[in-house]
Amino acid sequence: MYCVRSVTKDLFWIGANDLQKPFFEAVHPVPRGMSYNSYLLLDEKTVLFDTVDRSVQAQFFDNLEHVLDGRKLDYVFVHHMEPDHAATLGDLMLRHPEAHIVCNGRIVNLIRQFHCTDPNNTILVKEGESISTGRHTFTFYNAPMVHWPEVMVSYDSTDKLLFSADAFGTFGALNGHLFSDEFDFNHDLLDEARRYYTNIVGKYGPQVTALLKKAAGLDIQMLLPLHGPVWRNNLELILDKYSKWAAYEPEVNGVLIAFSSVYGGTEAAANILACRLVERGIPVDMYDVSVTSTSVVLAQCFKYSHLVFAATTYNNGIFVSMENFLQDLAHHNLQHRKVALIQNGSWAPASGKLMADLLGGMKDMEILSAPVTLKSTLAPGQDSELEALAETLAASVRGETPQTQEEPAAQTKKPRGFVCKVCGFIYESDTLPDDFRCPLCGRPASDFKPLD
Ligand code: FEO
Repeated sequence: MYCVRSVTKDLFWIGANDLQKPFFEAVHPVPRGMSYNSYLLLDEKTVLFDTVDRSVQAQFFDNLEHVLDGRKLDYVFVHHMEPDHAATLGDLMLRHPEAHIVCNGRIVNLIRQFHCTDPNNTILVKEGESISTGRHTFTFYNAPMVHWPEVMVSYDSTDKLLFSADAFGTFGALNGHLFSDEFDFNHDLLDEARRYYTNIVGKYGPQVTALLKKAAGLDIQMLLPLHGPVWRNNLELILDKYSKWAAYEPEVNGVLIAFSSVYGGTEAAANILACRLVERGIPVDMYDVSVTSTSVVLAQCFKYSHLVFAATTYNNGIFVSMENFLQDLAHHNLQHRKVALIQNGSWAPASGKLMADLLGGMKDMEILSAPVTLKSTLAPGQDSELEALAETLAASVRGETPQTQEEPAAQTKKPRGFVCKVCGFIYESDTLPDDFRCPLCGRPASDFKPLD
């Protein structure tokens, strides 16, 4: 049973939606499903633009044969070899051995790797080369790392269509819609478009910028991505978002608080900080990284200008969910953010310095002040420290000159504390309790000496 939609008078969407798989790429939750777009052109020659994920291949083949209506398939333009688009290519080549595969050299190599076969009829195209299919002429442009190195896009100079591969995609099934103007962009699409962008190509901002520059030189009337809706109106909306995301510019001047808390002490401090910020009129959002998927929180970090990370100390390190989250954030190359930290540790708080170390490896992450340190929970009188942190963050969000801080950035601060002379364990604090015992070797306070 076919399910297709017309894009133009001779171009058809023949993709499909998967509402059953809970994760995309085995890691990103897709509770609203996922679309796998494929398009078919009926010109003097017929052209298929990419195939689909294996999960929807039955629907795809029904759609393909319905629209072909007995015609032979002349060309398959393969823009991207990731299996969510090319898993079905092997079966397609068996069903349509007459088709010429149009792609670049990197794509041919990946066809060999994924499908263990050499395509029979291959037409290799280079940057700027064109193919005419009758009324339409297509020109090819490489878009390396948007999202894999082999990616290319194709531009139809006749109807001014850009087949953009992963670029301009979103998470979520289409559910009968095809064009972005059939959705309410801000309500229906923006969050999932941002989450798709940041998680899938967020690491490759410069490469996305390079593609945007190539696109800026073309007269584009329609963007046709491999996921999500086709853009035929108000293209500047998604192009502006891409431009901002690729430059790692925040969309909201406000504070995103991400915390991990084992017994609630760290969460309570995060909540108090959020209250003090909201009272100052600052936009705030907050997530527990042990509960909410990294895929979601990472996208929110791209959205906000200021980030607060609050984590307990665990196994003398950062609590595992926060450590995993920050490492993923670093892998996605987020940069140009202002950051504050809250650390917790009942006997040896260490998460603040370790989080600062991780953030120090990222580009242009400015830590606004020394971490607020909790010992199990917020101590009487410590409210003032959160009040001061809220004031520092609010002033920075408003672009006011920061107040003089008592401490330099955490990653440059000389550690204070005491070291166990027996095992080397470091207790980070200004004072060492008389009854302290080393948590590693059990030696008493008398076996500790101040750090140099
Ligand atoms: Fe939609 Fe990079 O594959």
